[in-house]
Amino acid sequence: MNSSFNAEEHKKMLQSYFNGQGFQRWASIYGNEKLSTVRSTVRQGHAVMMDKAFEWLQKTGLKKGSTVLDAGCGTGLFSIRLAKNGYRVKSVDIASQMVDKTKKDAQKAGVADKMEFEVNSIESVKGTYDAVVCFDVLIHYPAEGFAHAFRNLSRLTTGPMIFTYAPYNNILAFQHWIGGFFPKKERRTTIQMIKDEEMQRVIGELGLKVIARQKISFGFYHTMLMHVDRG
Ligand SMILES: C[S@@+](CC[C@H](N)C(=O)[O-])C[C@H]1O[C@@H](n2cnc3c(N)ncnc32)[C@H](O)[C@@H]1O
Repeated sequence: MNSSFNAEEHKKMLQSYFNGQGFQRWASIYGNEKLSTVRSTVRQGHAVMMDKAFEWLQKTGLKKGSTVLDAGCGTGLFSIRLAKNGYRVKSVDIASQMVDKTKKDAQKAGVADKMEFEVNSIESVKGTYDAVVCFDVLIHYPAEGFAHAFRNLSRLTTGPMIFTYAPYNNILAFQHWIGGFFPKKERRTTIQMIKDEEMQRVIGELGLKVIARQKISFGFYHTMLMHVDRG
C-alpha cells in the first residue's frame, strides 16, 4: 500500500485535468475529427471495447427501460448509445465540461429525456441501478483509490457491472514507462495499473463473480474489459 496516496488531492487533480487540457484531448479522441496515428489507434481501440461491452450488456438480458449508471461518462458516447437502445441512463462525471457535452449530444440525438446528468465522482454517486458501467475511469486510479471507488460502484447495483481497468504486466508497464518519451503532444494521461491479485481480492471481498474478461489491445489502447455480477 502506498500510504502517500491522498484521495481528495487525486480527485481534484483528475477533475482539473478533465475540465481543461484533458477535455480537449479526450473530446477529440471520442469525436470525429482527424487524429494523429497514435491517437487514432486509441479511438479505434475504445470503439472495439465499447462494442464488446454493449454486446455483453445485452447478453445479460437487461430489459429495455432498465436503469444503467454510466460512471465517468466522459463525452457520453456509451450513455447515448444506451439511451438510443431503450435504456434509462444516469450519466455521471467528475468534470462538468464532460457532463455538459454529454447533455448537449444527448439533446442533439433526441434521447435526453431518457437520461439524467450529474456532476459527481464515482466515489460519491448514489442511487440504485439495474446495471453499472464504468469505462476507462478506474485506469486513472492507483490500487488504494481504485478499491474505494469500485466498492462504492458495487453498492449501487445488484445486477451486472461492466468496467475496464489497466492490468499490470511487464509489457504494459514497459510501454507506460516509455510513454514518457513520446513527444509531449502524444503523451498519454498517466495510466495506473492494477495487479491481478489486487483485482481478484477486491472482487472476492465484495462477493462478486467474474462472468467475462477480455483484454483489448489496439495500437496504443490497452485495457482489460470485465463483467462481474453477484455470485
Ligand atoms: C478517459 S475518459 C472515459 C470516458 C467514458 N467512460 C468513455 O469511455 O467514453 C475518463 C473520464 O472519467 C472521468 N473521471 C475521472 N475520475 C473520475 C471520478 N472520480 N468520478 C467520476 N468521473 C471521473 C473523467 O472526467 C473523464 O471524463
